Amino acid sequence: MAKGRTGMSEIRVSGSRLTRRNLLAGAAGLVGTAMAPGISVGLARAADGFLEITAGPGQRKLYSEDAGASDLWLYNGGLPGPEIRVRRGERVRVRLINALEEATSIHWHGIRIDNAMDGVSGLTQDPVPPGGTFEYDFVAPDAGSYWYHAHNKSWNQVGRGLYGPLIIEEEDPVFDRDHDLMLIMDDWRLDDDGRLDTESFGSLMDWSHAGRLGNWLTVNGKSKPSFPLKAGEACRIRLVNASNARVLELDPDRIGGQVIAYDGQALSAAEQSTAQALVIAPGQRVDLMVVPEAGRDLALVEVSTGDRFVFAEFKVSGDGKGAPPARLPRANTLAEPDLSNPRHVVLDMTGGAMGRMGPMRHKGRELTRDDIRATGQVWAFNGIANLDEEPMFAAARGETILLETVNNTAWPHAIHLHGHHFRTVGADGALGPWRDTFLIGSAETVKVAFQADNPGKWLLHCHMLEHAAAGMTTWISVT
Ligand code: C2O
Ligand code: CU
Repeated sequence: MAKGRTGMSEIRVSGSRLTRRNLLAGAAGLVGTAMAPGISVGLARAADGFLEITAGPGQRKLYSEDAGASDLWLYNGGLPGPEIRVRRGERVRVRLINALEEATSIHWHGIRIDNAMDGVSGLTQDPVPPGGTFEYDFVAPDAGSYWYHAHNKSWNQVGRGLYGPLIIEEEDPVFDRDHDLMLIMDDWRLDDDGRLDTESFGSLMDWSHAGRLGNWLTVNGKSKPSFPLKAGEACRIRLVNASNARVLELDPDRIGGQVIAYDGQALSAAEQSTAQALVIAPGQRVDLMVVPEAGRDLALVEVSTGDRFVFAEFKVSGDGKGAPPARLPRANTLAEPDLSNPRHVVLDMTGGAMGRMGPMRHKGRELTRDDIRATGQVWAFNGIANLDEEPMFAAARGETILLETVNNTAWPHAIHLHGHHFRTVGADGALGPWRDTFLIGSAETVKVAFQADNPGKWLLHCHMLEHAAAGMTTWISVT
C-alpha cells in the first residue's frame, strides 16, 4: 500500500508544545466508499422494548482495503455503534450486554440525565462484568447532538471503538433525515500495516504528555468517506470528536456553514465562524448548518499540525440555489446561573511532563515517586489524583457554581462536567454559549458558571482519556 510518513512535526497549541507523528500521507486504495447519510447498524429491539447493545470484539479496516484489519471493541459490531435517535421527551431504553473480557458501562455524554443512569463505573454504578447486562432507562430533557461511549477504562475502551451517536430530535425538526448528518471523528494510532497499534495503550509516556495521539483520522469509522450533498439544500452537519486526546482543528473555509449548536445546545442565532480554525476538543460537538454552493465540493480538513489533512469529502451535485431555513432549531431551556451570588470554586490543575508536579494525594495518601510509577498517577486536581472518597465540593441543589479552572500544566485540557451544561464567563463577565466540555490552554484560566440543579454524584474530568486515567478526574455532589 502506498504510504509515506514524513516524520515528526511540531506545533504549538495554546502555548504548549505538542509533538506528533504526521498523519500517514498515503492516498491509494483508501476505504473511501460513498456512504449514504445516516448510519445504519443493526439495532435489535427486544420484546420488552429495550434496544440491545452488545459490547464485544470485532475487526475493521481503519486505513485502506489493502491494509490489515484492526482488532477493535465495538457496539453491535459497528463503528460507530448503532445510532440512537429519539424525540425530546421520549424514553431511551438500552440493555447493555457485555461480551468483552473486561467490565464496562455506557455513559450518555452531554445528557442532563438521572444520576443513576449516567453510566460511570465506580461512581454511579458498578461496572458490568463480562457476561453481565445493565438496563439504562432515561428521558433526555434537551434536543441536540450527543454521543454515548464506554466509561470504564475509557482510555482503552473508547480508544478501541466503543462509542456511538445519540441524537435527540426537536419536536419540530428543521432539517429532515436526508439533510441531517452525524459525523463522529476519531484519531487512531496505526502501525506500519495500517492496523491499530494496541501495544502502546497505557503508555506512561502518553499519559504524562498530550495523551494518546494518533496518525490517522476516520469519520464514522471510515477512512476518507465521501458524502453527497445537494447544492442549495441546507443541511445540518453534527460533528463529534471521539478522539482519545486529539484536539481537532478544521479549516472552516472548506466546510463552509455556520455554527448552530455547541455540545448539543442550539444557539439562539447562527454564528459565522471567524476564527482561523474550527476547534473541537475531545468530547465536544459542533453542529453546522451548511448550504452548499453549486460546483464547490466541501471537505473536512485537519490543520492543527501545519499539514493539511483531508479526511472526508462532501460531493456537491446539482445547481440549486438556496438559502438557510427560515428558522433554526429552537434552543433548549436550561436554568441560568445566578451570577449575583455564586459560590466560587477554584480548580488548580497540576502535574504532567514539563510541568510543576507538587505533592499529590491518591486514594487518601501522599504519592511517592515509586507510587507514581506503579499507579500511573501524574496529574492532580487541587493536589488530588483521581477519585477520592470525598467530592471536590458539595453543592446545594439550585446553587450557582462559578468554577475557576487554572491550568498550571504545560498542556491543553478538555474539561467535561457530567449531568450539567455550563456557560463560560468572559473577563468582562459576559456569558458564552452553553457547553458540557471546555478547552483550556496551558497557563490559561477559564471560568464557567452553572446552576447545580441535577442531584447526584457527577464526574468532572479531562476528556483526554489518558489524562483522566492518570489523575485528572474528580467528582462533585449535588444534594
Ligand atoms: Cu464523555 Cu466522563 O465522559
Ligand atoms: Cu487533559
